[in-house]
Amino acid sequence: MQRTDIGRVLPKILHPAKITLAVCPDKNGIPNIITLEWFMRTSINPVMFAVSIGHSRYSYECFSDSEVFNLVYPSKEMAAGVVLCGSKSGREMNKLIETGFEHFPGRLANLPILKQAVANIECKIVTQVKSGDHTIFVGEVKHSYLNDDKDLLLYEDLQKI
Ligand SMILES: Cc1cc2nc3c(=O)[nH]c(=O)nc-3n(C[C@H](O)[C@H](O)[C@H](O)COP(=O)(O)O)c2cc1C
Repeated sequence: MQRTDIGRVLPKILHPAKITLAVCPDKNGIPNIITLEWFMRTSINPVMFAVSIGHSRYSYECFSDSEVFNLVYPSKEMAAGVVLCGSKSGREMNKLIETGFEHFPGRLANLPILKQAVANIECKIVTQVKSGDHTIFVGEVKHSYLNDDKDLLLYEDLQKI
């Protein structure tokens, strides 16, 4: 064990990793989608999830104005759309339309539920905490949806496309 720079430690410990999408409406109610590697479950009862959103993202504006978000666990067939949502900004385009993700209205503020995903988890934002150049938004799970027959897209799958 040797003391070293955190820049050498991170590539070794962060992967393999899961990824998610977060769908959050902007101030006009138009849903935006962001690809996320930084998310976690944070409570057993009630079940809660947290997502970490960079302050430069359009999603940060959306999350700051919103009371809800949909945390989406994408399936392997959604890989191209996940790359798009992680490389283009909602300031430039409507990513729900550009990805062609099929969807139906959920139960929280008509948030889009992505049909091809493994899971959709509708959350009500209950608290947030600033973390350097990101803010962690914590959501309490209100509704959840599952496709039992789909395989989860992993971070490593994105390197293959
Ligand atoms: C695999 C992957 C993981 C990412 N994880 C995060 C993350 O956890 N938090 C974050 O703020 N941005 C993350 N990003 C970057 C955003 O997805 C990206 O900047 C996106 O274009 C922001 O869109 P927006 O401006 O519409 O919010 C990730 C990107 C990729 C490709």
